[in-house]
Amino acid sequence: MTNLPERDFKNPRAEHGFKGRTCSIAAVGSYVPSKVLTNADLEKMVDTTDDWITSRTGIKARRIAAADEFTSDMATKAAQLALERAQLEASQIDLIIVATITPDMPFPSTACLVQQKLGAYRAAAFDIEAACSGFIFALEIGQQFIMSRTYDTILVIGAEKLSSIINWKDRNTCVLFGDGAGAAILQNRPDSHGLLTACMGSDGNKADLLCLPGGGCRMPPTPDSLAAGNHYLRMDGKETFKNAVNAMCSAATEALRRCEVDITQIKCIIPHQANLRIIDAVSDRLGAKPEQRFINLDRYGNTSAASVAIALDEAVQAGRIQRGDLVLLVVFGAGLTWGAAVIEW
Ligand code: UT7
Repeated sequence: MTNLPERDFKNPRAEHGFKGRTCSIAAVGSYVPSKVLTNADLEKMVDTTDDWITSRTGIKARRIAAADEFTSDMATKAAQLALERAQLEASQIDLIIVATITPDMPFPSTACLVQQKLGAYRAAAFDIEAACSGFIFALEIGQQFIMSRTYDTILVIGAEKLSSIINWKDRNTCVLFGDGAGAAILQNRPDSHGLLTACMGSDGNKADLLCLPGGGCRMPPTPDSLAAGNHYLRMDGKETFKNAVNAMCSAATEALRRCEVDITQIKCIIPHQANLRIIDAVSDRLGAKPEQRFINLDRYGNTSAASVAIALDEAVQAGRIQRGDLVLLVVFGAGLTWGAAVIEW
């Protein structure tokens, strides 16, 4: 039995045989390392200026994890906060999904390491990799398990230690990224429509635009591949920028269309935090007002899969999102990958 209020928008999930079941975010949490790397610090490391970084990206600072602090540690701290806020024990988690491009190691999965650190002994655990789009992809996967009644409580995490794959001598990339983690707990909540829709897209034809060529089976770590810098992130910034704007606009438009929600009904837009100019272009094209957006990239830079997860948590803690509000998440990343989700909070 559900107790859903009448709403003037359509829930596409309800139309597809999931009546009586919704997937809501019961609580969120996030964690960022304490070390702050400012634009002034970067001026001493590479040929750049605070003015260039601020005007081209909007970023003023980013967080950098300690040498002995790994993606699983940050993910665990974000998850512990979300569990505490949801008043849940780790033993109640059925499934853990970690989205990351910087796992602690190729295997076992970071999700299994998080499971061990949390003591979530009942949970199944696996990682997914959709680069900066990973958190929405993980939400969508989690939702399928909730709606199909396979699981009741799912922990979804986006976590990255991007500082470990950055060439700190390359000014084109080292000014852009940071470390951190964000977590969300998914549950069926009968009094909310929850996640109304999530759409995802990919284009492997453009895989070269943003990649880390080394470290996989194609280019295992050898002294030569290490010396050639193949184990650092590479990006064609200009092309990535153009693709990001187009893909984020189409994904957001499609997600809004699917649930018959107008952009003016969205209380808070949480965009992937890569570049303020991308966010400006996307919100302009969508017809959104600046005050609808939540932005924290000035403090954290681009944290890839953690980006919208951290921003969502901060928006909730800041009171920007209240029960019943409609929230739009929109992401873009390597792959290429992109996606958008509309949530009734
Ligand atoms: O998370 C996945 C999604 N990621 C993104 O969406 C990132 C997308 N791309 C971007 O955000 C932007 O393209 C960048 C911020 C990476 C670059 O901004 P841009 O306006 O596209 O600059 P550009 O690459 O065209 O570079 C302009 C100039 C170049 O100099 P020349 O060739 O014109 O002399 C660069 O060498 O700026 C130079 N430059 C820098 N100068 C000072 C590049 N990086 C820096 C730097 N400091 N850090």
